Amino acid sequence: MLPLDNYECNIVSTLIRKFYRGSLDYSIDSQDLLQMTWSKQEEFLNATVKNPLIKRYPVKSEFGRLFFKKLLTFLEGSQEVHDDIYENLCTFMNTSPENFCYRHYIIGVGLNNIITLKETNNMVVNGTTGLRTWEAGIMLADWALCNIDLFKKKKVLELGSGVGLAGITVAKFCQPLRITLSDCHNDVLNALEENVAINFPSLERQQKADSILFQSSEQTIEVMNLDWNDTSNISNEVNPDIIFGSDIIYDPTIIEPLCDVLNTFCNRNENVQVFIAGVIRNAETLNMFLQKLDKMNLQYQRTTHSENVFVEWDLKVQRYLLKINKILL
Ligand SMILES: C[S@@+](CC[C@H](N)C(=O)[O-])C[C@H]1O[C@@H](n2cnc3c(N)ncnc32)[C@H](O)[C@@H]1O
Repeated sequence: MLPLDNYECNIVSTLIRKFYRGSLDYSIDSQDLLQMTWSKQEEFLNATVKNPLIKRYPVKSEFGRLFFKKLLTFLEGSQEVHDDIYENLCTFMNTSPENFCYRHYIIGVGLNNIITLKETNNMVVNGTTGLRTWEAGIMLADWALCNIDLFKKKKVLELGSGVGLAGITVAKFCQPLRITLSDCHNDVLNALEENVAINFPSLERQQKADSILFQSSEQTIEVMNLDWNDTSNISNEVNPDIIFGSDIIYDPTIIEPLCDVLNTFCNRNENVQVFIAGVIRNAETLNMFLQKLDKMNLQYQRTTHSENVFVEWDLKVQRYLLKINKILL
């Protein structure tokens, strides 16, 4: 896997990355427009709408429509437009709006390492924020890829996985001994399970009493209902070395239960290391969490991740990355 600074930037690869990322934030200057010949347009189409992965797991039709419309405004009048650009625009326009779609997260350079997730674009669906990927999850995935040794051969637990970007990234690239991805909302757990199946098609699925296992002789991924409000129900078999989570400190009412969960695992294994990433929306909520950690004899350090290394995420957001562990007396 090559980091992004090895990325050979040209207009076609930029457009491909934007399309996969679900971003309309692109522009084509007059120099680049000269390069967008018929064959370059074909290269773009082959890597995107004609790519078997995108055909199987399509992007949101509304996004496709806006992306192709924008592309046309640049191309028309400057280049002969490829017929398939018009054809795909029509297809997107004739597709009924979907509640869910697929997003494709390119890891590193090229299209060899992609995580595909079923998710929604909406902030809240059916009373949960867990059905889309949040910026902190992308940052945490990138940070994990820069810290593979931390996860290697470890028992890992993700809290509040949502649709699973960070957890699936760790499972796919960081060689944990075993990883448990958890959440508490049924729709989120169903999407999470589907996303594990999409990204690990060769693992065998097994329904267990309190979780779903995806397994091979080399790998175990578990999808588990783990509600922070109900620590008494957490199976004793869950005894992680590393816990992580992204965007899970967003509501004052979940601070206490979340800290209880961390405390439960720190009591099971006093060497457990916890990493929590988030975007600062409300500094007061984060402070409440930090004060609660103090009260529970859990210490924290602020750590940083300050550049896009393998995955692109928004560097402009105000963010935190905490390392938490038990104070050993
Ligand atoms: C803002 S989303 C973040 C999802 C994902 N980690 C990300 O960064 O994209 C917060 C997640 O925490 C989960 N969550 C909230 N309260 C929870 C609880 N009491 N127990 C377990 N998970 C919870 C939600 O279901 C949701 O998936």
